[in-house]
Amino acid sequence: MDIMLYVILLVGILCSAHVSGCDRNCADKPVFTPSRLVVKYGDPVAANCSVCENCLDLFGLETPLGEQNQNGTTISWKAPKMIEWDLAPSCYYTKNNSDDQCCSTLPITVYQPPDNVLIRFDGHTGPMFEGRYYALLCEVQKVAPIKNLIVTFYKGQTALDKQPNDGTDKKPVTKISIFDIIPSEEDDGAQYWCEAKLELGPEGPQPPPVVISQKITSSVHYKPRLQGSPHFQITIKAGSPLLLNCSAWGNPSPSYSWTLPSGSPHSSSSNVLTIDSVASADGGLYTCSVSNSRGTINVEFNVTVEEINIILIIGIVVVFVAVVAVGGLFYWRYQTNGKICSRLLP
Ligand SMILES: *[C@@H]1O[C@H](CO)[C@@H](O)[C@H](O)[C@H]1NC(C)=O
Ligand SMILES: *[C@@H]1O[C@H](CO)[C@@H](O)[C@H](O)[C@H]1NC(C)=O
Ligand SMILES: *[C@@H]1O[C@H](CO)[C@@H](O)[C@H](O)[C@H]1NC(C)=O
Ligand SMILES: *[C@@H]1O[C@H](CO)[C@@H](O)[C@H](O)[C@H]1NC(C)=O
Ligand SMILES: *[C@@H]1O[C@H](CO)[C@@H](O)[C@H](O)[C@H]1NC(C)=O
Repeated sequence: MDIMLYVILLVGILCSAHVSGCDRNCADKPVFTPSRLVVKYGDPVAANCSVCENCLDLFGLETPLGEQNQNGTTISWKAPKMIEWDLAPSCYYTKNNSDDQCCSTLPITVYQPPDNVLIRFDGHTGPMFEGRYYALLCEVQKVAPIKNLIVTFYKGQTALDKQPNDGTDKKPVTKISIFDIIPSEEDDGAQYWCEAKLELGPEGPQPPPVVISQKITSSVHYKPRLQGSPHFQITIKAGSPLLLNCSAWGNPSPSYSWTLPSGSPHSSSSNVLTIDSVASADGGLYTCSVSNSRGTINVEFNVTVEEINIILIIGIVVVFVAVVAVGGLFYWRYQTNGKICSRLLP
C-alpha cells in the first residue's frame, strides 16, 4: 500500500512538473473540441483533445475529474457530474528534441443560477415620502460565477438600472445590489422588483438563466394637489346660488376646512361649499384649507356679490308712480268734468 501511494504521488509530481514547463504559445497546440465549455454545476461534461499527428507518444490530458479515453491522437474526456468550480483541463504533448511541452487549456465556466432573489428597501418599511431618497436592495443568493451576473431593477415593466458585476469568485456568492430611487406621486402603487440574469455567452444556455424577485408595492405619501382649475375670482348676483369647489387629491386622502369672509370657520368639511342664495353680506374672501399628514394648501376664493342696480329700481319706481299719477289725474278730470271728457273721449 505504501509503495502504491508513493508511486501515485510520484506520478502526480511528474505530471505537474510536465505541465508547469508548458508552452502555451507554441505552433501546433493541442486542440480542444469544443474550444470552451459552459456547464451548470452538477451537469455532465465532455470534451475532446487532439494533439498533432506527428508528435511523440508522450501526450496526455490533465484533470482531476472524470475519465479519459485515448483513440489515436485524440483524448476524449467526460465526467457524469461537474462538481468542481474552478477546473481547467490541460492537454499537452512533448516537443521533438526537447523537454519542452506544448499545451493548451480548456476554459470551463461552471455556473449556478441563484437559489433565490429578494428585493427590499434598505432600512425602511411603510409608506415613503415623495422627494426623498430610498435605497432598493436586490439580494441574489448563491450565484456563480459573479462576473457573469447582471442585476436589473424594474418598476412595473420599465427597467430602471442594469448593473453588471465583476469579481474573480468562481464559487457561488451572495450579492447585494443597490439602486437609489426618489419616489414621486406617480410612483404611488408602483411595483418594484429585480432580476438576476447569468449572461454566459454564446456557449451558454439560450435564453440565459433568469431568476426574478418578488414584487413590492410602494406607497408614496405626498401633500394635496388641487384638482382642475377652479375660479378664484367670482362675481355673482345677489340671490343666486354659490358653489365653491376646492377638490384636491393626495395620499393620505386630504381633509377640508373652510373659513368664511368674517374669519369664522364654517362647519363644512366637504370639498365644496354651497350657499343656496347669496346676499351682499356673503361677499368676501373664503379660504379652503386642504391638508393631510404631508402638508396643507390654502385656496382662496374672492367672492363679489353684485346688488341689482339701485338707480334702475328707483327709475322703475318713479316711472310707475308717474304712470299711476297721470292715470289718476285723467280719471278725476273725467269724473268732475264730463263735457271736457266727452269731447276728449267720445
Ligand atoms: C469526442 O470524440 C468522439 C469520437 O470521435 C465523439 O463521438 C464525441 O462526440 C466527441 N465529443 C465532443 C464533446 O466533441
Ligand atoms: C517529431 O519527430 C517525429 C519522428 O521522430 C517526426 O515524424 C515528426 O515530424 C516530428 N514532429 C515535429 C512537429 O517536428
Ligand atoms: C477511433 O477513431 C476512429 C476514427 O475517428 C474510429 O473509426 C474508431 O471507431 C475510434 N475507436 C474507438 C475505440 O473509439
Ligand atoms: C369639483 O371639481 C372637480 C374637479 O374639477 C370635479 O370633478 C367635481 O365634479 C366638482 N364638484 C362639483 C360638486 O362641482
Ligand atoms: C377681491 O376682488 C375685488 C374686486 O373684484 C378686489 O377689489 C379685491 O382686491 C379682491 N380681494 C382680494 C383679497 O384679492
